Amino acid sequence: MHGNNIMSFHYNDDYLYCEKLKVKDIQETMPYSPFYLYSLAQLEANYAAYQKALEGINAIIGYAVKANNNLTLLKHLSALGSGAVLVSGNELQLSLAAGFDLKRTILNGNGKTLAELRLAVEHGVLINIDSEFDLQHIQQTAKDLNKPANVLIRINPDVDPEVHPYISTGMKNSKFGIRNERLNWFLDEIRKDDLLNLVGVHCHLGSTIKKVRIFRDATEIMLDFMRAIQAEGFSARYLNIGGGLGIDYERTGDDIPTPTDLINSIRGLLTDDITLIIEPGRSIIGNTAVFVNRVTGVKTNGNKHFIVTDGSMAELIRPSLYDAYQHIAFIEPVNGKVETFDIVGPVCESADFLGKERKLPAPPEGTGLVVCDAGAYCHAMSSNYNLKMRPPEYLVDGDRLTCIRRVETLDDYLRLFDV
Ligand code: LLP
Repeated sequence: MHGNNIMSFHYNDDYLYCEKLKVKDIQETMPYSPFYLYSLAQLEANYAAYQKALEGINAIIGYAVKANNNLTLLKHLSALGSGAVLVSGNELQLSLAAGFDLKRTILNGNGKTLAELRLAVEHGVLINIDSEFDLQHIQQTAKDLNKPANVLIRINPDVDPEVHPYISTGMKNSKFGIRNERLNWFLDEIRKDDLLNLVGVHCHLGSTIKKVRIFRDATEIMLDFMRAIQAEGFSARYLNIGGGLGIDYERTGDDIPTPTDLINSIRGLLTDDITLIIEPGRSIIGNTAVFVNRVTGVKTNGNKHFIVTDGSMAELIRPSLYDAYQHIAFIEPVNGKVETFDIVGPVCESADFLGKERKLPAPPEGTGLVVCDAGAYCHAMSSNYNLKMRPPEYLVDGDRLTCIRRVETLDDYLRLFDV
């Protein structure tokens, strides 16, 4: 079990509960299926785990908004004191609406537009320089606004995160970050520009990382860069080591490092003149939600058994896109014959599956089924494919249930054509 798991989702008499509420009761009262269901207690516990891990260190926790951009959840995180890590101008505007202190916020990206940079400079957001052209765009924006820009340089420490290639980002051949051999060119350009303040260095290795050694190796390399930059006369103080800590999707009992394990592995390397920035997404929001489906039917073709659900790759694409494993379970007692099933949606694609080869009892129609650990990169990556509607989201706080995003409707969609 993940160190942060406070059992906000737990079973009692074979019924799944979210905090004090029985998920089956929630499902029965809901007008729309499938839906996402979040636990506020779990979110608060996950954030508190980072705060506790960072005790005694100057640090900013920058929640990576891309993982989940529900406005209510963002408001909870900003109220807890979190900063925000952004990858677009829209995420910046949303973070303003959620009440984040934008001075403790970072804009990332290998293709930031001039309009996005303008917003960032206006609001004093820290900006990561990703390339030569990105630097020129930041310079131009600061000049146009006649306003200083606080920048970090995104460096590739070239440490292998040992994860799926689609979510590995800090290697030498990655599309992100500068060519490290060019560091001195960047320093010279920044030095020449009165409106640019170089305040630190940034890296992001990848996502779903399960070994703290990887973070430690990268931190050592990044500190060397930081010292080299300071030796060039810059007063850089932010060491941004990105996000990427994995969570226990597989539930195989493997020890997944906690935020405390991660921070303790680098604590000894940090000195008082450094402010650490960390950019967790998944490890803050991933295990706070389940994706609740209804079984539409069960079928067999050839030697394959299928459970067909109303949810699909349109609402939750990680299994289809990365072959990612997310645990699947029923929310109520099921007594059918145990078989090996693929759990698939109704979308017209063979790539449409939520899980493969799961040993489960055959469920009757209407049974509730959840895809677990669905808080990160699930709703945020949902689509209207096959004209499915983005599902609603509900939040549980003790015995209280609130709708925190309504379902999209066909009318919402049709309105896009009122041109
Ligand atoms: N900082 C930067 C610069 C990032 O690119 C990311 C994620 C994060 C922080 C947050 O990483 P986390 O702590 O959540 O691992 N869609 C994929 C994940 C893509 C992650 C991209 N970058 C998935 O569903 O697994």
